Amino acid sequence: VVIAIDGPAGAGKSSIARALALELGFTYLDSGAMYRAVALDAREREADPAAVAAQLRITLDGERVLLDGREVSAAIRSPEISQAASRVAADPRVRAAMVALQRRMLATGDWVAEGRDIGTVVAPEAELKVFLTASPAERARRRAADLGADPGTVLAEQTIRDQRDLTRAHSPLQAAPDSVVLDTTELGFEEVVRRVAELARERLRGRSGAT
Ligand code: CDP
Repeated sequence: VVIAIDGPAGAGKSSIARALALELGFTYLDSGAMYRAVALDAREREADPAAVAAQLRITLDGERVLLDGREVSAAIRSPEISQAASRVAADPRVRAAMVALQRRMLATGDWVAEGRDIGTVVAPEAELKVFLTASPAERARRRAADLGADPGTVLAEQTIRDQRDLTRAHSPLQAAPDSVVLDTTELGFEEVVRRVAELARERLRGRSGAT
């Protein structure tokens, strides 16, 4: 079973996807961490991101991200790597490598997978697709609060990244036509988790009823 949670930066995908995975007993896949790891590795090695992506040695262990066995969980979250991740993510060769890796992971077991293209490209057959969004100002406010950063700076960086993610030629950020779009601008965290968990249970019930 795959539950896909897509949406722009700061919409709450990670915290919602994690909480949902915990509640359902599913495994959580943070696809953004993979693009971030490619960006970090390419920068450190001064290598072509596509070459790095083709042989990325990444381990996703709960909240921990290991690159070649080294913990990079914090390093991949810097504003520089956020921008670099959205740049490497526009490269179709990088995307092809990441999508193949993600599909292999999702092929067995039960997953809550989070990103930009899970419902559209990686797992179009997902049992439930949620597109989480919120106003740009609210998304920047949440991200700034998380990071202890200035909301204005975060908004400026977020706008650049949103624009790049929305307008790239390959797998741009978009809601799958059969996704449930949830605007969380006015909703608290618990409320969003409650609604998404309810949708998931409905779909899973429908599924077991059909077989
Ligand atoms: O957490 P946040 O939304 O800020 O970023 P992320 O999910 O960690 O993703 C970082 C960058 O990776 C995004 O800006 C996208 O350009 C890219 N990405 C992607 O292209 N496809 C995905 N499935 C996940 C991330």
